[in-house]
Amino acid sequence: MAINDIPRTLWWEDGTVYFVDQSRLPLVGDVLACTTAEGVCAVITGMAVRGAPALGVAAAMALAVWVANESGSIDGTEQFLAGLDATADTVTATRPTAVNLFWGVERIKRFARENADLPLAELRDLVVEEALAMAAEDEERNRAIGRNGAALLPEAARLLTHCNAGSLATVYFGTALGVIFTAHEQGKVAGVWVDETRPVLQGARLTAWELKLAGVPFRLITDNMAASVMRAGMVDAVIVGADRIAANGDVANKIGTYGLAVLCKEHGIPFYVAAPTSTFDLTLESGDDIRIEQRDPREVEGVTFSGVLEPGSPSETRAFESLTSEGPYSMPLAKGHAIEISRKGGGYQVDGWVRIAPPGVEVYNPAFDVTPAEYVTAIITETGVSRPPYGESLSIACAGSGAIHEL
Ligand code: MRU
Repeated sequence: MAINDIPRTLWWEDGTVYFVDQSRLPLVGDVLACTTAEGVCAVITGMAVRGAPALGVAAAMALAVWVANESGSIDGTEQFLAGLDATADTVTATRPTAVNLFWGVERIKRFARENADLPLAELRDLVVEEALAMAAEDEERNRAIGRNGAALLPEAARLLTHCNAGSLATVYFGTALGVIFTAHEQGKVAGVWVDETRPVLQGARLTAWELKLAGVPFRLITDNMAASVMRAGMVDAVIVGADRIAANGDVANKIGTYGLAVLCKEHGIPFYVAAPTSTFDLTLESGDDIRIEQRDPREVEGVTFSGVLEPGSPSETRAFESLTSEGPYSMPLAKGHAIEISRKGGGYQVDGWVRIAPPGVEVYNPAFDVTPAEYVTAIITETGVSRPPYGESLSIACAGSGAIHEL
């Protein structure tokens, strides 16, 4: 077991971008192949790829597949740039909160405009190369975040993390988990508390999977257990990622993060945010201006699951065979429950949603919350560690980092 066992989140091969399908991990490990920008957008909205830094590179890849496979009939640079802008607008409409997604398309658009005097064929190749460079840079940045963050942790650290700011939330290695992986390599991690992270369970499904593969000791808890493990003196630091950080240091991250930060203050525990500078949005004065994604009420009303069916007898195999003989089989179920069985590589897969709340309840489902800067002990980036007052320290962190937001 080692960090190397975690697969890369996404990669490019001959005009196709591949994604590990995170919507079904860890029980189903599909790889999705996209050759169109529309396909990449569907992967983003379906949360097959998620996590702010990964979304930034996925957005750039969406433009790269458009350039490589869908812009062939265009022969003028102005038309090409207009097509790129239109595709960029579709990509940024997928998810509103993680600024990295906007950063990814802006960097590609800017690069294309800066090189617009080149012959179009050459410009196309260079734009694709720029997207690939962004994927390569992501790992370097995360390793630097890991080193900068691990230096802050005590020996035998007992840590707590929320959601998944791991390798899967980036191209490779992760931000908050990058810090934990690095500290683990240095022999500094006694254990990690992993919040399950309702409603989409990125902690229980993805963070637990990554830590297990990397051999980091951890225990899974439900979100409402964090307060009690802190009160019992079993947490030395909390480390989370971020989806957008405003100029004053307010941090948008997965719903539930704010509660953890308040708990940290109450219990005298440092609350660290680990994020690349591409997560900064210095155009926003405070977190009040961050748009928070509202998601499907069904995430809260019930539970989604996926798994592989293992028939235990020839008669079960025959039953699954006949149910799926004409394609995926949707079971007729009451109360909106949904279970679909499909054939998959010589076996069978089940995907389902089971209602928990009574039908017809009203649901509020914001995917993110904003933690005010006053609760954040430090923000760890690839360029160093920023501390309050953030108005000044974030600008310094950004300078020379390649972050494209206005200072
Ligand atoms: O809805 P998700 O899964 O995209 O939300 C992800 C998070 O909130 C992560 O904590 C954040 O993007 C940081 S990832 C390095």
